[in-house]
Amino acid sequence: MQIDILTLFPKICEGALAESIMKRAREKRLAEVRVHNIRDWATGKHLVADDTPYGGGQGMVMKCEPIFAAVEALRTPESKVILMTPAGRRFQQCDAARFALDSHLILLCGHYEGIDQRVIDHLVDEELSIGDYVLTNGAIAALVVTDAVVRLIPGVLGDEQSAADDSFSDGLLEYPHYTRPVEFRGWRVPDVLLSGHHGEIAKWRRQKALKKTEKNRPDLLDGK
Ligand code: ADE
Repeated sequence: MQIDILTLFPKICEGALAESIMKRAREKRLAEVRVHNIRDWATGKHLVADDTPYGGGQGMVMKCEPIFAAVEALRTPESKVILMTPAGRRFQQCDAARFALDSHLILLCGHYEGIDQRVIDHLVDEELSIGDYVLTNGAIAALVVTDAVVRLIPGVLGDEQSAADDSFSDGLLEYPHYTRPVEFRGWRVPDVLLSGHHGEIAKWRRQKALKKTEKNRPDLLDGK
């Protein structure tokens, strides 16, 4: 799959894409992630990508022309164009799973006060937010979406089971994990995990996952 990130701040993305699982996925060509500077499609002496809002008000608005030029240069009939914005629908694990089946995502990062509405009306397929808070720009949000999608591409995670065990994949948060040593500062690993009894371990994990979900995200249990 191919992901093109369009941002005014490409350097924000570089570190995250050059480490760990994202790095490996790119090296194995399971995910081709490219980062582009929207300013590369700006024209005029000063390569301006933003301007003051019609009607007055604070801040700057991202201009149509460079964004249309960038998306039109990159998109194919299969592309999905997603705008990262705090005004979008909340991004969830099911969106990541849906996008992992797409062949091409273009993640457009907002900045400043916003983006010219004509981009949203005529270029963008979906507006997504990563949560109810406002970041300084959409690049970090685009990285969040990229990471969540790339790890679901078959072959990216070493152990295929590890994505299936995730928090959210079965509607519950994940159960607790332990590794060596068996005792640390007097705190022991629960005996059941040392028992080798797979049925009991599965039962314990399910109970713990339920308890954790009740405590941290009771909303996930509504209607269960
Ligand atoms: N840009 C700024 N804040 C954002 C958010 N919460 N989600 C997506 N893009 C954003």
